[in-house]
Amino acid sequence: MLLKMKRVRDLHGDITVSGAKNSAIPILCAAMLAEDAVTLKHIPDISDIHTLLDIIESIGFSFTFEANTLKIHPAKKINTTITHDNVKKMRGSYYIMGTLLALKHRVKMATSGGCDLGYRPINFHLDGFKRMGAVVEEKGSYLFLHAKKLKPTTIDLDFPSVGATINLMLACVKTKGMTVLNNCAKEPEIVDVANFLNQMGASIEGAGSEQIIIQGVERLHGTTYEIMSDRIEAGTYLILGALLHGATIRGINPQHLMSLIQLLKSSGYPIYYNDDKIMIEHPANTKPFQVVIGTYPGFPTDLGQPLSVLGTQIQGLSQIKETIFTKRIAHIQELNKMGAQLYIHEGTIVIEGKNKLKPSTLYAHDLRGGAALVMAASLCKSYSIIENIDVFLRGYEKPIEKLASFGIEAYLIDQK
Ligand code: EPU
Repeated sequence: MLLKMKRVRDLHGDITVSGAKNSAIPILCAAMLAEDAVTLKHIPDISDIHTLLDIIESIGFSFTFEANTLKIHPAKKINTTITHDNVKKMRGSYYIMGTLLALKHRVKMATSGGCDLGYRPINFHLDGFKRMGAVVEEKGSYLFLHAKKLKPTTIDLDFPSVGATINLMLACVKTKGMTVLNNCAKEPEIVDVANFLNQMGASIEGAGSEQIIIQGVERLHGTTYEIMSDRIEAGTYLILGALLHGATIRGINPQHLMSLIQLLKSSGYPIYYNDDKIMIEHPANTKPFQVVIGTYPGFPTDLGQPLSVLGTQIQGLSQIKETIFTKRIAHIQELNKMGAQLYIHEGTIVIEGKNKLKPSTLYAHDLRGGAALVMAASLCKSYSIIENIDVFLRGYEKPIEKLASFGIEAYLIDQK
């Protein structure tokens, strides 16, 4: 699919943030643990969710999904051998491992895929499962995880991995006794997943801190839960507002975006917030930024690529040091095609601003890199074309409508 787009008006964007992709994905998996139906609200209608729902259906669960509300019904029979090709389309399908280990003590599935951000192992997940007593076997392109019984234990993560923290929380939530997870990731999505599990009857303490303590429970019951708003979508449109004529971003907890808010403020952007809204205005003067990407509450890796576009519009040298996914750089050559000047110096992305970007035909290599290209093309008053825009649609709901509120005219063109 292609995206054809240009800026036709100068508008202060005004958007309401959708539900968080990286919270919805594990929460959909966690919903399979309930003995009754679960209703989830504020689920983003994006392709990653549909990809995951196809897998969940192949496991035996049924669902309805309408107007961002998803109802999942328990399975009559659970299939623990997952052959669905969709597993390879998204990284987050790895949460099925923890979920089915908890439910059936076995799962056979291909290793998950997702954006190509360099080498993305799942050794922390697998080491944790092993510590809980699971046997991990490689069978061709499949992983086979099984355990007679899962045992409570203490797991010290080598790195505060978001995926491993959540996957281990899922795996041990029904394991009798106390499991302690140390060196956990603290991202808000982890708190959201823990809150959801607790609302289903789980006993999880400490989510959002370095140590999470889980007392296993026998059963989890159905519930209705509204998932958090997407801080990465909010941050993307906030940066777009900084690039264009300001923005009001509604339905977002500003505390989840403090690292970005501070960066924009110190670069000269007037920015205001209250409990659930952030506003940004066009600045009189701007200053280049230097940022090191890190784990929460540090600057999020998922906003590094969108932020690089802002650097192209600020006079001087801005710098982004990526420490989580160091190969998240495929957008650089595309932005340079438009006249930007980005290069890598000793592992840091350096952006030499300011440059007028020219409309171009671009290729989206990955989700957040695709978002960066959409933002760059928003600066141009003639049409740009972004090929392989499907990767962007994996994580951004209703982008055509949201971009329109910034004065951008955009069409999706299906090449089939
Ligand atoms: N890592 C390992 N071994 C593991 C797990 C991670 O070496 O077993 C490394 C990774 O290679 C990476 C670092 O540890 O260098 C952090 O990875 P983490 O596990 O925290 O990331 P993830 O679970 O793979 C999730 C999001 C990403 C987001 C990161 C960091 C989902 C489905 N994915 O990935 O989201 O960038 O956390 O916040 O939740 C995106 O939305 O565009 C995206 C890539």
